[in-house]
Amino acid sequence: MYNLTDKQIVLGVTGSIAAYKAPDLASKLTQAGAAVDVVMTESATRFVAPITFQGVTGRRAYHDMWDEASEIAELHVVLARRADLMVIAPATATTIARLAHGLAEDLVSLTALATQAPLLVAPAMDPHMWEHAATQANVATLRSRGVSFVGPEEGRLASGQMGTGRMSEVPVLLGAVRNALGRGGNLTGKKIVVSAGGTREAIDPVRFVGNESSGKMGFAVAEAARDRGAEVVLVSGQTALPDPYGVDVHRVRSATQMRDAVLAACDGAHALIMAAAVADFQPAEPVGEKIKRKGRESLTLHLAPTPDILAEVGRPQGLVKVGFAAESQDLVANAKAKIESKGLDLIVANDITASDAGFSVDTNRVLVIDSKGEQEEWPLMTKYEVAWRILDKVQRLFEA
Ligand code: PMT
Repeated sequence: MYNLTDKQIVLGVTGSIAAYKAPDLASKLTQAGAAVDVVMTESATRFVAPITFQGVTGRRAYHDMWDEASEIAELHVVLARRADLMVIAPATATTIARLAHGLAEDLVSLTALATQAPLLVAPAMDPHMWEHAATQANVATLRSRGVSFVGPEEGRLASGQMGTGRMSEVPVLLGAVRNALGRGGNLTGKKIVVSAGGTREAIDPVRFVGNESSGKMGFAVAEAARDRGAEVVLVSGQTALPDPYGVDVHRVRSATQMRDAVLAACDGAHALIMAAAVADFQPAEPVGEKIKRKGRESLTLHLAPTPDILAEVGRPQGLVKVGFAAESQDLVANAKAKIESKGLDLIVANDITASDAGFSVDTNRVLVIDSKGEQEEWPLMTKYEVAWRILDKVQRLFEA
């Protein structure tokens, strides 16, 4: 799981019905290890009680800027100073206007004005209020000052209307928080291309040759690289996973499409990490119409090799190349052979016969081998932790 230990986050909550999502956000941030201080406008307290936030964060939630009983003198200054990030979710049109004009009229706008931490704003409002020239001008002003926005999204609003104004859902907000905290991380300035998921090679319009890849390993690599400040392009085959926030995602189907997308993405890239399970063979002659069973005793498929993407990409501008090896036997020998044949710096070999590693599960147990043949066996850990450690190695390769 993504670790926010040692991060101080101020969560500003303002008066919108979308405030009902804010305790869940505060809870998820706290579960990830962050110390979350909640500040609310008085109108926000009409939608959610401060005690709800206290319950999930284990810290007092503040809403009264005149609170003489507060244990902290100059509350907004103290919270503002110690924040690594301030998130305002939901942010109403009024709060956005206050931020744009530097008005400090409540604890949220007061803290936002006092902090030097990055500011992430998740608007929530009626679509006409969002589209209004005044709101758009305020948003443009804030963006020009470096404020980040997540959402609003299109969909059904509490009023029953359809339009743009819904606050983003909590998983998206968490991605945006991680993206914001990752800025300036140790992969800043690096472009990293990641592949994930399985390819599907068409037999006919309804059938395909595919594999069990869920995309979890590759998505974890993409998210970990983003969380360290990299510019990330994710080329994904088939997976049910949503696009990670702040990552440039290209969805493809076949090995050939993946090859084309990866080669294009590698222009100007510093590293390519291929966690995708790419088909090695494809139907030589996919047919345009659905193959009928009637009148057939058997069916023979002729398969032709797919392009070997890692081998084909070469070494443009000294690109660091990391492959994965999914093996069911002779893990080390097969992985070493792939370092040679695909010209890799590193290979991450996983034994796909284990029930807690390889395809579909959230954990992996890998053996990492470098181009000099040096091996490291890592214990079972989450795919995110594996991704983080692979990136430690990639970073060292950049430095070398
Ligand atoms: O997606 P998950 O469910 O999380 O599962 C993760 C995983 C098991 C798919 C992942 O950890 C993994 O092992 N990925 C590589 C699977 C694979 O295709 O291995 P391979 O040994 O066939 O290929 C070796 C390397 O060459 C891989 O990096 C592969 O992306 C690449 N390749 C393969 C074929 C091809 N035509 N072109 C390639 O570039």
